[in-house]
Amino acid sequence: MTYSEFYRHSIDDPASFWAEEAKRIDWQTPFTQVLDDSRPPFARWFVGGTTNLCHNAVDRWLPTQADKPALIFVSTETDEERILTFGELHGEIQRMAAVMQSLGVVRGDRVLIYMPMVPEAVIAMLACARIGAIHSVVFGGFASMSLGSRIEDATPRLVISADGGSRAGKVVPYKPLLDEAIRLSAHKPSAVLMINRGLTPFSSEPGRDHDYAALRAAHLDALVPVVWLESTDTSYILYTSGTTGRPKGVQRDVGGYAVALASSMKHIYCGNPGETYFSTSDIGWVVGHSYIVYGPLIGGMATLMYEGTPIRPDAGILWQLVERFKVTVMFSAPTAIRVLKKHDAHWLSRYDLSSLRSLFLAGEPLDEPTSSWISDGLGKPIIDNYWQTETGWPILTVAHGIDNTPTRLGSPGLPMYGFDVRLLDENTGETLGPNQKGVIAIAQPLPPGCMQTVWGDDERFVKTYFSSIPGHQVYSTFDWGVRDAQGYYFILGRTDDVINVAGHRLGTREIEESINSHPAVAECAVVGVADPLKGQVAIGFAVLRDPAAAASSADRLALEGAVLAVVNQQLGAIARPARVYFVNLLPKTRSGKVLRRSIQAVCEGRDPGDLTTIEDASALNALREALAG
Ligand code: PRX
Repeated sequence: MTYSEFYRHSIDDPASFWAEEAKRIDWQTPFTQVLDDSRPPFARWFVGGTTNLCHNAVDRWLPTQADKPALIFVSTETDEERILTFGELHGEIQRMAAVMQSLGVVRGDRVLIYMPMVPEAVIAMLACARIGAIHSVVFGGFASMSLGSRIEDATPRLVISADGGSRAGKVVPYKPLLDEAIRLSAHKPSAVLMINRGLTPFSSEPGRDHDYAALRAAHLDALVPVVWLESTDTSYILYTSGTTGRPKGVQRDVGGYAVALASSMKHIYCGNPGETYFSTSDIGWVVGHSYIVYGPLIGGMATLMYEGTPIRPDAGILWQLVERFKVTVMFSAPTAIRVLKKHDAHWLSRYDLSSLRSLFLAGEPLDEPTSSWISDGLGKPIIDNYWQTETGWPILTVAHGIDNTPTRLGSPGLPMYGFDVRLLDENTGETLGPNQKGVIAIAQPLPPGCMQTVWGDDERFVKTYFSSIPGHQVYSTFDWGVRDAQGYYFILGRTDDVINVAGHRLGTREIEESINSHPAVAECAVVGVADPLKGQVAIGFAVLRDPAAAASSADRLALEGAVLAVVNQQLGAIARPARVYFVNLLPKTRSGKVLRRSIQAVCEGRDPGDLTTIEDASALNALREALAG
């Protein structure tokens, strides 16, 4: 079968297509209806079926590979290595599940996981899945305000955390940030479970905080059976940034997600049971959820979990791991490759990479020089993936499990099966043809694996994602794109105020709100500016309440440092702008809207575009002067 026939089947007859794919996972009770789309845009997959993500990821593989590696953990930060077989992982998950139950966690409760890249994080996620608790993993690089707002929104009964993480040899304490986050949140979790790695001392709150090692020891022989969940039950919430300052809780189901991942492992990643999958992402991101934890294990593969950077102890570490653990499928981000590109290319050919079939890259635009450099250096196919936290698996790529569709430099590829991708005119909603720039949209129904709704806010789900294209209730990706005559898509940047720093998705509004909280700042604008290494960096422009506060260059420097420290403390280093400049006014329209696109253009030395609506054109010159120092 050609990919185009496979794709057509998925779009023309989704029910029969996905009924077939659903056979890739175990069901406790068979579903009675493949798709319930009676209440658009909500799509419910495999209605009536019961299953479990932890069962499909772990228990299911016990008869054939209990003694084969399931979770391979390598930390070049702490020089630790641990290999858990499927059998051992099964035991650890039950201990963790029993501990969670002893702390009062029951089906449907939320458990927030704020952890570094250690095996207990994966064990905790799978333990939640096992007993039907809903996990919400928050990236360890976020600080107390980001974390606090997520605690408040998800209202977890339990938070699982650790004393600290480590980044490039520097210990990052987690507990003080967590304590502050809980203080800021109106909701207080009833228990905190601490994994003590012995990296950094921390204080405990008696009655609330518990030590995992002690509780684990009390549950060593725990047998915790899988709880069979409705396919449409919620498996997890993962927060992501959007246009407002308030993060959105992307809510995922159980059965649809399991089927989508099992299917993608086969058709897109071409991974087989018994092999090793290596994703360099973090469990705090969607790539970590889908392709460090659930996807590889559901596919019966070992997953390699790596705590460390791509260049420590040297720029060959990733390839050394590929050789040692015979990795067949690898997943990373263009930023990591651009970091490696600053080092000698000989690192790419030093190790035996014969096991490796393909390297998948996703999360941000893959520029052609980076793509060519890594593909020449490794001598392996490089496959670009375009997708989003909301979709959970690729929207655009090539499915080499089906046929040999060639890749094309600069393009992630073709719409994946199940995704009815359209290019639409943002103003008229009209469908566009080849070589016309438009908004990338997806016609209903979204395939299995995609978000169910915004946690606790159905209305926001419909309003945010399905109401932005006039006259059509279609899902907007908020990305611009163009398609060539052969159907290959090219991504041309976001239509909204989301920026992408080193593959991390950030909302400029969140950063602006944080900068505005500094008492000296009257208002500000943050934009994403092209950067050769990180893809984009955030640059802020702030108007001061009292311009005299930044009169001298020493004043400006001190104030910039103070403003950046606020962002660091509230949101985390990940959201800290590269620079904050002080100006007397921001370029705005006469109706008071900040002209972010024009600011971005000026920062990148481009033409600021149509300025007919600008209130005071001198504002742009002020920006240029500030940038010139
Ligand atoms: O703008 C697109 C960009 O990252 C956004 C989604 O980010 P996130 O929710 O963090 O999910 C990442 C999952 C891989 C998209 O809206 N993006 C993602 N992949 C690509 C990309 N831009 C260009 N090329 C890609 N391959």
